[in-house]
Amino acid sequence: MRKKIIAGNWKMYKDLTESAELLGGLKARAGEIPSGVTLVVCPPYTSLALAGATMKETPIKVGGQNMSEHDEGAFTGEISAKMLKSTGCEFVILGHSERRQYNGETNEGVNRKARKALAAGLRPIICVGETLAEREGGVTESVVGTQVRGCLDGLGDRMENVVVAYEPVWAIGTGKTATPAQAQEVHAFIRKTVEEMFGPSVAGNLVIQYGGSVKPDNSADLLGQKDIDGALVGGACLKADSFMQIAKSALR
Ligand code: PGA
Repeated sequence: MRKKIIAGNWKMYKDLTESAELLGGLKARAGEIPSGVTLVVCPPYTSLALAGATMKETPIKVGGQNMSEHDEGAFTGEISAKMLKSTGCEFVILGHSERRQYNGETNEGVNRKARKALAAGLRPIICVGETLAEREGGVTESVVGTQVRGCLDGLGDRMENVVVAYEPVWAIGTGKTATPAQAQEVHAFIRKTVEEMFGPSVAGNLVIQYGGSVKPDNSADLLGQKDIDGALVGGACLKADSFMQIAKSALR
């Protein structure tokens, strides 16, 4: 049985003081996390060291929201996998649709970053998903298939440390969630694509998260689907209570 992974993407919210409050609130309730669920917080870079220190003796894991594809060097404003690791990170979100949209991230670039992340001992959460125009144009599977093949290319022997997040772009921050059936359909397609790439055992063990307006009132239905193994949560992870409610709904 695949473990459920619930990750909270804080995006560009929470300064250090606000981060301390949210991290403290989550830490205080860590005992409520069901045993088959891994909870991950992904605060902005400026709060990562604090998150790493706060969550050290707890089951809650920490992740970055992005990283450089380079090891080190003259790359002003960039952060390396090793730097993330040194703050206590175990995960890193790669290829989020906002980074694809505003920072020109490509499947090839995400693949290079994923290789670096894995080499540094980080588990990449690789984001894929179609836009509204693509869904309405009937090309969801070809878009998502190309993203999965491009981002995961050559990662076969390290796939046990990879997480894929399916996030339909039209559902992110819009309040429009994919129905559980719509999400399940794409998740099954992603698993089939991974099976074609790396075989049934890798595909069967892959954790595939759903993301896009996941809230406490829809999470149980989404997470109850056969191929939905977790959630990547934006807005609803910014309050300890709603994030914990989502975590608790994962194993009903
Ligand atoms: P949302 O964001 O939950 O606010 O829709 C999800 C995400 O972007 O990962």
